[in-house]
Amino acid sequence: MNRDGQKRESELIKLISAEKLPRHVAIIMDGNGRWARKQGLPRIAGHREGMNTLKEIITCANELGINVVTLYAFSTENWKRPSWEVEFLMRLPEEYLKTELQPLIEKNIVIRAMGDLEQLPAVTKRAIKNALQATKDNTGMILNFALNYGGRNEILNAVKKIAERVQEGALKPEEISEDLFTRYLYTGDLPDPDLLIRPSGELRISNFLLWQLAYTELWFTRTLWPDFNKEHFLKAILDYQERERRFGGINKI
Ligand code: IPE
Ligand code: IPE
Ligand code: MG
Repeated sequence: MNRDGQKRESELIKLISAEKLPRHVAIIMDGNGRWARKQGLPRIAGHREGMNTLKEIITCANELGINVVTLYAFSTENWKRPSWEVEFLMRLPEEYLKTELQPLIEKNIVIRAMGDLEQLPAVTKRAIKNALQATKDNTGMILNFALNYGGRNEILNAVKKIAERVQEGALKPEEISEDLFTRYLYTGDLPDPDLLIRPSGELRISNFLLWQLAYTELWFTRTLWPDFNKEHFLKAILDYQERERRFGGINKI
């Protein structure tokens, strides 16, 4: 990065208030294909470049002291893509972790994965299992990858598990509260995201964290994920810190 960029970043960092940091940031990593097309490259080159963005943003989030980062890496709808692209995406966790697992371990980061993981190819499952195992005793930032994840699917799975408990007589319908339902989701033990970032210019949720985003602050940018950098991330956080979160109430009379 050039010196101007570094200067802008350090100026932005100074403006961030440590007390008002989002605890949980969710990111829809979108725009890899369009980035590649703009460069005249195949779509997979965009996915690979997106991995570099990922590294930069994880390092920054960790340095700031954010507790949880959830990253949308593959949706339940992404199986609709051509098989060569799906196959490439399914190999990315292995490729990413080959070089990144060790630095993540050293940063005390806990890797997690959520989604219908059973349906993933063996190579993907193996890489993830290894990363979960290697970081399970860490105590730092939680890095949560959404893989073969769909918000509706997650809600249905929770409903099925709750229905089974009711059928067994272990739970009464009147005991099903918002808190209880939340615990049956993949994110059961995590706070809801405070901030959702979506690059690439799309203004939609694309089946991500449907229940959890109820009161999340949304931040969109037209920048494509491979071009997204620390400066964008810091700007999103600063923007978040200026917002007034009311949760349906009123803050000032
Ligand atoms: C996001 O980039 C990566 C995944 C969905 C896996 P895209 O591949 O969706 O990129 P665009 O939206 O086609 O540019
Ligand atoms: C959302 O991006 C999924 C991920 C980033 C993993 P998509 O590219 O799949 O979303 P749509 O199709 O534009 O809504
Ligand atoms: Mg996309």
